[in-house]
Amino acid sequence: MAPLHVLVYQSQASRPLDASDLDILLLDARINNELANVTGVLLYGDHQFVQYLEGTRADVEQIYARITRASQHQRLEILEQGRLEARRFQRWHMGFSDAPQSVVQQLSQAQWQRDAPWLEDDAASSPGLMRLLAFWNEQAILSR
Ligand SMILES: Cc1cc2nc3c(=O)[nH]c(=O)nc-3n(C[C@H](O)[C@H](O)[C@H](O)COP(=O)(O)O)c2cc1C
Repeated sequence: MAPLHVLVYQSQASRPLDASDLDILLLDARINNELANVTGVLLYGDHQFVQYLEGTRADVEQIYARITRASQHQRLEILEQGRLEARRFQRWHMGFSDAPQSVVQQLSQAQWQRDAPWLEDDAASSPGLMRLLAFWNEQAILSR
């Protein structure tokens, strides 16, 4: 089995997006991610996105290339990319949550690069991933 790869980026909405804009976007994203076997989560708050993608490197890069072409956002900035030991969002072809500004800010400013990439537990060595998982688990009941 090909090794797993993770990519996390942040971006700014290029215009205000309402619930139906997000639903259309997510429907499209989920179909594609399922075909590519890419999983992850997307958070949106205060006109900012943070998205976490996991899958094989080729699949994640193909999806990210598509994401960079979307008109709904701009100023994409990669926060982390690299090897991943195990999927964290196995069940989510793209989980979604509205997030408070404070959470999106914390995630975009967190350290994502792992101090000890040789450790098996990615979460324990990446404060950004730890924060994302904590938020996601608190949100157990999901809006979309
Ligand atoms: C914040 C954001 C996240 C996205 N996530 C994904 C994704 O996970 N997978 C995917 O295939 N496309 C993703 N897309 C692309 C959309 O599914 C869709 O192709 C795009 O929004 C179409 O935009 P257009 O108006 O430029 O045609 C994403 C787009 C945005 C803005």
